[in-house]
Amino acid sequence: MEDSATIRIGNDNYDLSIITGTEDESGIDVRSFRKQSGLITFDDGYGNTGSCESKVTFIDGDKGILRYRGYPIEELAEKSTFLESAYLVIYGELPSHDQLQAFRHRVSAAGVLPESVASVIEAFPQDAHPMAVLSAGIHALGTCHPDKISNDRVKDLAVFDESAAIIISAIRKIAARHHRFRMGLAPVKSNPEKTYCENFLSMMFSKTDNGEAVPPAVSKALDLIFLLHADHEQNCSTSTGRMIASGGANPFASLAGAVCALWGPLHGGANMAVIKMLDEIHESGDDGSRFILAAKEGKTRLMGFGHRVYRNYDPRAKILKGACDSALEALGVSSPILDIARHLEEVALQDEYFIKRKLYPNVDFYSGIILQALGFPTDMFTVLFAIGRAPGWLAHWKEIAESGGKIHRPRQIYQGATERVYLPLEER
Ligand SMILES: CC(C)(COP(=O)(O)OP(=O)(O)OC[C@H]1O[C@@H](n2cnc3c(N)ncnc32)[C@H](O)[C@@H]1OP(=O)(O)O)[C@@H](O)C(=O)NCCC(=O)NCCS
Repeated sequence: MEDSATIRIGNDNYDLSIITGTEDESGIDVRSFRKQSGLITFDDGYGNTGSCESKVTFIDGDKGILRYRGYPIEELAEKSTFLESAYLVIYGELPSHDQLQAFRHRVSAAGVLPESVASVIEAFPQDAHPMAVLSAGIHALGTCHPDKISNDRVKDLAVFDESAAIIISAIRKIAARHHRFRMGLAPVKSNPEKTYCENFLSMMFSKTDNGEAVPPAVSKALDLIFLLHADHEQNCSTSTGRMIASGGANPFASLAGAVCALWGPLHGGANMAVIKMLDEIHESGDDGSRFILAAKEGKTRLMGFGHRVYRNYDPRAKILKGACDSALEALGVSSPILDIARHLEEVALQDEYFIKRKLYPNVDFYSGIILQALGFPTDMFTVLFAIGRAPGWLAHWKEIAESGGKIHRPRQIYQGATERVYLPLEER
């Protein structure tokens, strides 16, 4: 690979260096281009733009590779747990036995949800969307820890370990508390003796105030889903979180904003849309062929298919497809929509439209089926995505804060009205 590139505009040449990553991914470093030429580069949607140098996650979308801190997702899914992978994503190395114990302890010792956060949750209308409540809940949580939201990078970094543990612990408590509130059920106490997912599932679904035992297969399935969502480099919500962090805001603010960015149907909301689509197909009695036809005609999109980065099978979807069978069997649940999903995938993968556009199942295609079988209401699926993604958002906040980098501030090509004269109201 050359180590420099030249852009020629008319008779002027602009020399730019090539920046290469550890996995040999290269890009043209345009940082000096505007200064040299007075021009900006234009990349609507950032599909060709590297916004940062990062050490957290590597993706090769053409080959379907995903690694957290160098470790293949397949290996982590088989051998690790959500909390261990969260530590890896945030701190860069697999923890020693003592480090993992200390991290688990910090998360489980982070305490009960402050009453003021519970009051914020319960101040929302009962039918409020759980993503709105989650974002507000994280903000409210931050205000209960004024020493951790100084918006001074040095100070916020000094207490980052505690902030990270508080957020990872509380994010599921906010979700569970809101679920019980809207179901008209009394909250269930957190039990630090339980594992992360057992505790969460018990706070969600227990029929008694003290929390019942959760079958290991159930908590294992949820742990896997969280682990597979822990980070995914510069996606919409992570980039939003980094953008907020770049202005010097604290981790709580960065995560509350990332939650909002995740909400949309083209990002974290797709797992809900997949179930809606599969349910509609099931109710219509069709095998999915009509839906595929409508997607090919551009009338709709096959939800859970396609990805901005993967032009191959999303490795997380492959793992979840395998996990679907065992999770459903362990739960003793049969899911007619799983058969529809399998059929849709089989048909789409042989169809010229999807082959030509390199559209494969993404992580959302199978995750919703497991979450539904676990008993989560559909409108909570994106909240579960957020719980899994919290370690990634925190890792990126830390990376930005430690780099001490400048504020992110893209430019634009202005296409609006040119200068005009203000007309008083009576003359318009
Ligand atoms: C994820 C997604 C937003 C990526 O978008 P993108 O990289 O910008 O891809 P584009 O929107 O440019 O699509 C490229 C082509 O594939 C088509 N396409 C993309 N996803 C499609 C889908 N799910 N169903 C049908 N056609 C699809 C587009 O219509 C476009 O066709 P064209 O070239 O004839 O215009 C898109 O694939 C999508 O909307 N998927 C469904 C939602 C989803 O599952 N999101 C979760 C992501 S993890």
